[in-house]
Amino acid sequence: MGNQGITDLPMKIKLPEPKVAGKSMMEGILAKRRSVRNYSQRELSEPIISRFLWAAQGISSEEEFRTAPSAGALYPLEVHVVVGEVSGLEPGVYRYISEENALIRETSGDLRKKLAEAALSQLMIRNAPASLVITAVYPRITSKYGKRGIRYAYMEAGHASQNVYLLATELGIGTCAIGAFEDEEVRKVLKLPVNEEPLYIMPLGHLY
Ligand SMILES: Cc1cc2nc3c(=O)[nH]c(=O)nc-3n(C[C@H](O)[C@H](O)[C@H](O)COP(=O)(O)O)c2cc1C
Repeated sequence: MGNQGITDLPMKIKLPEPKVAGKSMMEGILAKRRSVRNYSQRELSEPIISRFLWAAQGISSEEEFRTAPSAGALYPLEVHVVVGEVSGLEPGVYRYISEENALIRETSGDLRKKLAEAALSQLMIRNAPASLVITAVYPRITSKYGKRGIRYAYMEAGHASQNVYLLATELGIGTCAIGAFEDEEVRKVLKLPVNEEPLYIMPLGHLY
């Protein structure tokens, strides 16, 4: 008698419509987020790049926690930016230092073409004014979690990438998560140390 109405049968429950046009800005942004592969030739600016770096891996609390969650707060990710046409930043490859909200230039010169070639010649990387490259330094996380730490680093790259997508949507800038590339070739372009692996390339460019 107490079991009345309870059944093990699969049951479909229709949920309320997403509030994409309501008061929640976030649901509207989620609905608008798309991978964009064509960008205007208009340059980006250093302050815009800085917003994306912070969205990916910026410090957002007094304890130095970051904008993307991290298993055990061990932060295995690094973010580099391959700069081509960005006002206020010379062409080159830069590494983001989260703790200082600063960039360190690692290589000079416009390496967008080389990065595009390393990514199976995906032209959007050559055409975008700049690309973020999210990498992982596994020992930072495998030292605590063993092999499972690799999985955690992949998950965290997803979080960081989604932050970039959502900010891009809000700012009217195009981006696309790119996972198809030759690891070794990207490693060479960025001069990455042996323990650092590229996970995502995210070109950034104005929509028009
Ligand atoms: C792990 C991963 C790897 C991806 N790699 C590429 C890629 O190499 N090139 C590309 O053009 N898009 C890539 N994408 C983007 C997907 O093609 C895109 O998310 C999908 O078509 C859905 O479109 P949407 O992002 O606009 O919703 C990748 C997406 C993910 C999650």
